[in-house]
Amino acid sequence: MTSLLSSQCAKVIAIDGPSASGKGTIAERIATLLNRDYLDSGALYRLTALYAQQSQIDWTNETQIAHLASTLPANFIAGKILLNNQDVTVDIRNESIGMGASKIAAFPAVRMALLQRQRDFLTEKGLVADGRDMASVVFPNAELKIFLTASAQVRAKRRALQLGLPVNGVQFQQILTDIEKRDVADQSRVVAPLKPVAEAHILDTSFLNIQESVQKILDWYRIIEK
Ligand code: DC
Repeated sequence: MTSLLSSQCAKVIAIDGPSASGKGTIAERIATLLNRDYLDSGALYRLTALYAQQSQIDWTNETQIAHLASTLPANFIAGKILLNNQDVTVDIRNESIGMGASKIAAFPAVRMALLQRQRDFLTEKGLVADGRDMASVVFPNAELKIFLTASAQVRAKRRALQLGLPVNGVQFQQILTDIEKRDVADQSRVVAPLKPVAEAHILDTSFLNIQESVQKILDWYRIIEK
């Protein structure tokens, strides 16, 4: 595994970006098209937050949460996410767990506990990994690094539509506020803050649909593949 990771250019496409930027859908689609594995690193932070909640450990307790992260009984099977053999695919997506994930992700010990676990997703098959620090910390030798952005308004609209909610009114404003809060938390933390590495291709998806975004990334990939 170490040799795979440290090879000059690991067979990894790293896709980083803020909450609701569409990186999950885009990364998963690219993984399928290139016949690679897919790592949703945010799911590991969300699982850790949920596991802490279930274990009645406060999201401020770095030591205990790092311990939980290092022993996380999680499995990714056929599109489902299991925690202690329970299907939590839907449970980890709610906004409260998202906020919890953002809180515990600021702890260096938690990030360290999840580091190797993320790297273990890389096999000979190759990987498309999405998150906040895929290009900077987890896979610094990735062959292609993408940073997805979109305005907070656009991302809030996408999230509302996903949840079947109107794109205006009180609930929409709450979604927008949550997204903005999470942006600030993810960008301002001391360890592995969300920001593009110098060599990243920046892709603003505010006016692109999923297919157009996927195509743009594949175009960059074809260039380096040659
Ligand atoms: O991508 P997401 O919304 O599922 O991520 C949930 C939280 O986890 C996000 O607010 C920040 C954190 N996270 C992180 O710090 N580093 C990652 N590589 C992925 C997620």
